[in-house]
Amino acid sequence: MSARARPRLLDLAPDEEDFRAAVLAGLLARPKSIPCKFLYDEAGSRLFEAICDLPEYYPTRTETALLERNAGEMAARIGPGCELIELGSGASRKVRLLLDALDHPAAYLPVDIAREPLFAAAAAIAHDYPALAVTAICADYSQGLNLPPPSAGRRRVAFFPGSTIGNLKPAAARSFLAACARLLAGGGALIVGVDLKKAPAILHAAYNDAQGVTAAFNLNLLTRINRELDGDFDLDGFRHLAFYNEAAGRIEIYLESRREQLVHVAGVPVRCAAGERIHTEDSCKYGVAEFQALSIAAGFRPSAVWQDDAALFSIHYLEAP
Ligand code: AVJ
Repeated sequence: MSARARPRLLDLAPDEEDFRAAVLAGLLARPKSIPCKFLYDEAGSRLFEAICDLPEYYPTRTETALLERNAGEMAARIGPGCELIELGSGASRKVRLLLDALDHPAAYLPVDIAREPLFAAAAAIAHDYPALAVTAICADYSQGLNLPPPSAGRRRVAFFPGSTIGNLKPAAARSFLAACARLLAGGGALIVGVDLKKAPAILHAAYNDAQGVTAAFNLNLLTRINRELDGDFDLDGFRHLAFYNEAAGRIEIYLESRREQLVHVAGVPVRCAAGERIHTEDSCKYGVAEFQALSIAAGFRPSAVWQDDAALFSIHYLEAP
């Protein structure tokens, strides 16, 4: 084992006060909403991993197959000795396909908001890739990521799989991509997984699985609020609601109040009408040309795109300015 077999850990995670302020602001607003990044406490991260294995949830397995088939081509574009940043690295499973194909990658910097899963995944990667300098960064990268420039001569590449970018509406996705373009400027690149527009029935099934794992993932947000913010949500009082808004090209996810009820969070009363919704997530879908146009507007040059035969999912290779 080399001296590098332990990852460096950088903890910039939002604290409980951020969570409290965001939840209260979201529950007192009309319409009610809570940012989806808060879905990922430890239980939520575990439930999300279970979603990835569901028969109806095609994105993970489709993107993994795309990586298996095309990682060599991606690695050839990247070249030797790169610094690889992963945004929303979760269990760091997919990135292994890229790491295995890369020519002597120098550094891996996984970034995620969920601390324990991140640190565990970083330790496993450091153990399995002893020549790689691993630095785990626990942070909310949606608030911008401040990194020192890569060491001289190193190409910085960001990997943003899973269609996590779909959580942002197109205008916000463009700003986020523009921030990525600045982070990667000077010869870097972004490899981003993007879920494609498709038949609504396929999308509906993926977000309304038969086993109810997606519902449990969504409802776990209320469990987290009850535990961390002294809430008294009755979990039977809300139901998971997910549907495809075809005009907007996105899955919208809510927790819907089954009845009129009064809830308390951190001592603050919150009234919910029967049928009232708390918005918890968007998952935007794009055509290939549509996403390329967005990337160009953000300052990238799209130079390659891979998709499966059924046109379920895409991976874009975007060159930074
Ligand atoms: C991790 C944001 C890509 O939108 O498909 C899955 C999250 N939510 N099922 C997605 C999710 C419900 C997922 N992303």
